[in-house]
Amino acid sequence: MGDEGRAAEVTGRVRQEWARRVAAEYGSAGITAQVLTWSVQAGLPPELLYTATRIVRDELDHARLSHQVLVALGGAEAPVALQADELAIGGTLPDVLVRNFCLGESFAVPTFERMRRRATHPAVRPVLDRILEDEAVHRAFGWDALDALLELAPTLREHVGIALPGHLATFAGYANPPSAPALTDDERACGLLDNAEYAELYHSTWTLDIAPRFARRGMAIG
Ligand SMILES: [Fe+2]
Ligand SMILES: [Fe+2]
Repeated sequence: MGDEGRAAEVTGRVRQEWARRVAAEYGSAGITAQVLTWSVQAGLPPELLYTATRIVRDELDHARLSHQVLVALGGAEAPVALQADELAIGGTLPDVLVRNFCLGESFAVPTFERMRRRATHPAVRPVLDRILEDEAVHRAFGWDALDALLELAPTLREHVGIALPGHLATFAGYANPPSAPALTDDERACGLLDNAEYAELYHSTWTLDIAPRFARRGMAIG
C-alpha cells in the first residue's frame, strides 16, 4: 500500500498469482506425502520421517492460508487449477528430493524473503511470515534427506549428479522469464515479485547457495 490507510488496488494479476500459489502449495503437500512414503520404504532416520510429516501439514496450511489471502483480495470466485491427475508425481526419491527440495525449497527461501520485504498488505504479510519460517525447515530437510539417502545407497551419487542438469532445467522459467509490465507498488504490497527479480534471485541463489552445496557433495555442473 502506498499511502497509510488507503486500500491497495488489487489487480487481476494479483489474484491470478495467489490462485496459482494455492495450487502450488497443495501440490507440494501431495509431493511431500509421496516423499514421506518413499522415505519410510527407504528406511531414512526417524527424525527425518517426523520432519516429512510436519512438512505435509505445513504445505496443507500454506494452501489454506494462501486461499484465505486470495479471498481477502477479492478472489473468492477465482478458479484454482487443482487436477487430481496433475497431483500424481512420477520419478524416484532421489529425483524428487533434488528437484523439489534441494532445488525447489532452496530457491523458495530467498524468493519468499524478497516477496515479504515489500508485502505490507495486512492479509498478506502474516502469511508470508509463516511460509518463510517453514520453508527454511523444508530446505534443510531436503539436504539432510539427500545426505541420509546417499549414506544408505552411495551408488545413487552418480545418478544424482547425472540427473542434476535436467532437474535444474525445470526452473528455466525463473532463469529466463518472459518480460512483463512492471509491478505497481500495490501489487508488491500484495506479495508479488517482478520477473526480473525472479531471474536475479535464481542466478544469485544458484551461484552463492545451491551450487556450492552440490559441490561439497561431489556434484558440480558447469
Ligand atoms: Fe509451502
Ligand atoms: Fe515448502
